[in-house]
Amino acid sequence: MKKFLDLISREVSAAFEACGYEAAYGKTGISNRPDLCEYQCNGAMAAKKKYQKAPILIAKEVVEKLAGNPVFESVEAVNPGFINLRVSGSYLAGYLDQMAADPDLSVEKAEQPKTIIIDFGGANVAKPLHVGHLRSAIIGESVKRICRFAGHQVIGDVHLGDWGLQMGLIITEVRHRNPSLPYFDESFEGEYPEEAPFTISELEEIYPFASGKSKEDEAYKNEALEATAKLQDGERGYRALWQHILNVSIADLKKNYDNLNVEFDLWKKESDAQPFIPDMVEAMKRDGYAYEDQGALIVDIKEESDTKEVPPCMILKSDGAALYTTTDLATIIDRMQTYHPDEIIYVVDKRQEMHFTQVFRCARKTGLVNEDTELKFLGFGTMNGRDGKPFKTREGGVMRLERLIAEIDEEMYKKIMENHEADPEEARETAALVGLSAIKYGDLSNQASKDYVFDVDKFTSFEGNTGPYILYTIVRIKSILNKYRAQAAATQKPEDGVTLPREILAPASESEKALMLELAKLNSVIEQASEELAPHKICSFIYDLSNALNRFYHETKILACEDETQKCGWIALLDLTKRVLETGIDLLGFEAPERM
Ligand code: ARG
Repeated sequence: MKKFLDLISREVSAAFEACGYEAAYGKTGISNRPDLCEYQCNGAMAAKKKYQKAPILIAKEVVEKLAGNPVFESVEAVNPGFINLRVSGSYLAGYLDQMAADPDLSVEKAEQPKTIIIDFGGANVAKPLHVGHLRSAIIGESVKRICRFAGHQVIGDVHLGDWGLQMGLIITEVRHRNPSLPYFDESFEGEYPEEAPFTISELEEIYPFASGKSKEDEAYKNEALEATAKLQDGERGYRALWQHILNVSIADLKKNYDNLNVEFDLWKKESDAQPFIPDMVEAMKRDGYAYEDQGALIVDIKEESDTKEVPPCMILKSDGAALYTTTDLATIIDRMQTYHPDEIIYVVDKRQEMHFTQVFRCARKTGLVNEDTELKFLGFGTMNGRDGKPFKTREGGVMRLERLIAEIDEEMYKKIMENHEADPEEARETAALVGLSAIKYGDLSNQASKDYVFDVDKFTSFEGNTGPYILYTIVRIKSILNKYRAQAAATQKPEDGVTLPREILAPASESEKALMLELAKLNSVIEQASEELAPHKICSFIYDLSNALNRFYHETKILACEDETQKCGWIALLDLTKRVLETGIDLLGFEAPERM
């Protein structure tokens, strides 16, 4: 179904045309003076020059043409040439009725669906998930859902970090602690043990330890570098140990992402790019793109228009090891061959922007991507604490994701138990849902590229622009609908079950109309959010919608209404509002409880 604003513009454009003006002048927007009108067209002013006529005269002609048009309740020409419009209540109701009749709420699907790969999550194996990876997971998941809803074919890939120095560090540290393990015996030819020589908590302790040590101990660092190169080169024992690291770590990561309601279609890793590296390197050399510089292999990617220095892209280190850039480039080859994507979107910390500039330029220059495949970097800002510095635990350490979630859930649990008497078990489940909404909405309501302050008190509040407030609104509607069902069940035969009324009526009050006008925006909001990869647009929409709903609710006695037709109309409107809000939060990646 067409966007509501387009339908309005169409009417106004037709009137312009009928008066002998170009139709394009009829483009109409949402009014920025809601006290005066709902929609506004400024085309008469724009047409002044071309037609050498006073805008107010043009506006008056157009308004005359629109008189009697059933789409509008009022149309007015205002000096110096504005056309102010109010839409008719029954037309608006008809539009919402059509929306309600469609399971997908009549959201227009992309005319030319694209195949999009979203590279997000980006956790590193053997390192605990911390808040730095939280944003990538939350934003990527939402962008994935929005693009899918807009009709594209979307593939989410976690692209785990498993091929860099961190692996060499862990292998080195395991060897120092336990040199007799068969993985380090080059003459060992038997089967390696099935059981990993460490647990996830040991693993998570080993990495920071090794990383710290390598910064002070040069010889240790060299050992780790050598281990990295050997691993990449295929040394049997190292590969077996690495496989243990992956198994232990991925099981833990899956659990964590699951708790966040974050899902990946592909669990690919940097190492999966390894088979593509030798040929890629050969081709880059053969075609004259890559050359040796102080032992390393590099590709120049400077451009004349650069205002700041863009260093060459390093393809191999002097010891032959692959780098972060190498695996990212080779992964592009894999993705192009397997999925032929129209777009690859990387949801990564914006501090990695230079890395992606290098990768994108190198991939274009050396022909790894088709001309019409777009590479997009969706860089996000830092999540800060209230002190304005990167978020830490109260003791000042790195905040682990599990702990952050547990703390928020506890906070929500307390609030729920304070609010009303609840079964502790149900309250725990509810707290988990509401806690997730607090974290995700708190993040997504900011433009992704900006840094933001993670403010627990603010994010968990049931009032204001927060996830819990949106959920509270949905729960409020659910409760009214349930009461309606109970009322109706008393008069209908039980076998009938109670189906909710469907027909939305023309608005009976200003607050009802305001709610309806908000609902009519859904189609445009989805289009904008998907084109701009901007979940925050969904947040502001559902926030405005929740406010409109709550105002209508406070001003209207819905269930006590004696006019049955009117009551049914309102119930239908509430049901649609609930569906739109639920769609909104689903696109953000969380759900509403039954009660809270
Ligand atoms: N593992 C990386 C990190 O923790 C993020 C990966 C982002 N994706 C990519 N294709 N480079 O910084």
